[in-house]
Amino acid sequence: MSATTRAAVLTGLGSTVPDQVVTNAMLASRMDTSDEWIRSRTGIRERRVVEPGTATGDLATEAGRRALKSAGVDAVDALVLATTTPDHTCPATGPAVADRLGLGTIPAYDVAAVCSGFLYALATAAGLIALGTADRVLVVAAEAFTTIIDPADRTTAPIFGDGAGAVVLEAGDAAQRGALLGFDLGSDGALADLIIVPAGGSRRRTSADPAEYFMKMRGRTVFTNAVLRMASSSRAALARTGWKPGDVDRLVGHQANVRILRAVAEELGLPAERAFVDVDKYGNTAAASIPLALDDAASSGLLTAGDRVLLTAFGGGASWGAVTLEWPDLS
Ligand code: COA
Repeated sequence: MSATTRAAVLTGLGSTVPDQVVTNAMLASRMDTSDEWIRSRTGIRERRVVEPGTATGDLATEAGRRALKSAGVDAVDALVLATTTPDHTCPATGPAVADRLGLGTIPAYDVAAVCSGFLYALATAAGLIALGTADRVLVVAAEAFTTIIDPADRTTAPIFGDGAGAVVLEAGDAAQRGALLGFDLGSDGALADLIIVPAGGSRRRTSADPAEYFMKMRGRTVFTNAVLRMASSSRAALARTGWKPGDVDRLVGHQANVRILRAVAEELGLPAERAFVDVDKYGNTAAASIPLALDDAASSGLLTAGDRVLLTAFGGGASWGAVTLEWPDLS
């Protein structure tokens, strides 16, 4: 028997956000809200918003390029793209991103799990590696999420923003730093209406009400479910890893709301400082938020090699997930 266990190991990381900054004050000048309300309820100060003409595929290509550079590679065996806002309803955006990155005719596809999308994409990429179908996979999570947000809706416009993050996973050993250790994933379709774009899909192809082409959210119910599911999924992933909650050096949760992140840390018995927060700068970038946060945390020195890291997310579907890893040396 082999002494090593094949695992998917994180070897590269990159991210990008659009240049356009929209502050809370800018939103307050065009709708009935205030900087104080948004900051105290969500922790968000500003967000990045794509200009018309910039699509998810543009952000995904740039984040992917940066992750490949960070890993020091120019070829991969597969690309998995997590997004809620593909460039087109058909086809998937992943193949176009692979083409633009010069990755050839590799398998490339999209994963749709809204704010949990990055964790779902990581799991499918790790599965390709476990099967031996791929030795190296580029996992990208990208959103032009504001394209499905009603700019006049004060219950969603302050919350969401645009961005992209990407990681390279390579076949390695479970004992290596960067190996993805314990996964947990789940969903509850009975909660599908918590976060929903009512029209434009096959269920309701057209609507006379333009607002139905934008996302609706039952914010308060999302909040309570997010805390419960992120905490329980985290516990399941930790148990599979053989870690106790207190072993976690850095909780990098989906950046939806600073109050959700603090509540998840509290549920796990972790000091609030162990929860990384950058929702203040970017808002909720859906699938992109975790890899964007990882890049932000790593570049600001808040993630260092050997840190025991817990990632967790909750989002539309409803869907949720968590995964653990020891942070690798990416320098
Ligand atoms: N500015 C000012 N007031 C606002 C507002 C805004 N942008 N949005 C809502 N309000 C008002 C509501 O109308 C309501 O007024 P009322 O009491 O007179 O009825 C009041 O503020 C409270 O609204 P509520 O929705 O109960 O607030 P909340 O404390 O739950 O905060 C969210 C709202 C959206 C910030 C919060 O529920 C949340 O963060 N939910 C999770 C959202 C999320 O992260 N989604 C993606 C997860 S993947």
